[in-house]
Amino acid sequence: MNKAWYMDDETSDQRLQHHRNPPEFISLDELYKKTGVEIFVLNVDTYATDGVFDKIKKDRGYSYEDELVCSKECFGQAYEEKLKSFYTEHIHTDEEIRFVLEGSGYFDVRDDKDQWIRILVTPGDLVVLPKAIYHRFTLDTKNHIKVKRLFIGTPVWQAYNRPADDMECRRVYVSQQRQGFATAF
Ligand code: LAC
Ligand code: NI
Repeated sequence: MNKAWYMDDETSDQRLQHHRNPPEFISLDELYKKTGVEIFVLNVDTYATDGVFDKIKKDRGYSYEDELVCSKECFGQAYEEKLKSFYTEHIHTDEEIRFVLEGSGYFDVRDDKDQWIRILVTPGDLVVLPKAIYHRFTLDTKNHIKVKRLFIGTPVWQAYNRPADDMECRRVYVSQQRQGFATAF
C-alpha cells in the first residue's frame, strides 16, 4: 500500500505528489517507528454504526469532534492564503487528529533525520499526528477534503511555526523519537 513516501526537493506546485525518482515508499509500520504517526483505516461507509470509530474515540479519550471542509469554494478569496498557512511547517502542544470523510490531501511529517515524508490521506483514514511533531498539510490537485477534527477535551488549534525547538513538548517528542516509538500494530 503506497500511502507514504519520501519527498523530492519540491520546486513545483505543493499539491503534486512529489515522489523521489525512483520513488521511496515507506510502510505505515516504519512511519510509526520513525515518527510516532498512527494511521487507522476505517470503513467510511459504516463507521457511524460499526463501532470501530467509537472504540478509538473512547480508548483515546477523544471527547471533542467537529467537521471541516477545505476546498476552493469554501475558502473563496482566502484559498491561496489558507493553503499557504496549512503548508507552513509547525507544531501543536497536543495531538492533531483528523478522520477523512471525503476527498484527499497530504500530510507531510519530518522523519528522525529531518526528511519530509508525504502521507496521502483518503476517506476512511484516521490520522493521529503526535504532539509536537513538525508537520504541514496541503490539498492535492482535486482541491477538496472533508474531515472530522477530534480532540481530547477543549480544542487548542494554536500552531507554533518552526523553529519551536525550545518548547517543552518538542523536547519530549525529540527524546521519544530518539528512543524509537514502540510498535503499535
Ligand atoms: C492543522 C494542519 C494544517 O494544524 O496541520 O490544522
Ligand atoms: Ni497542524
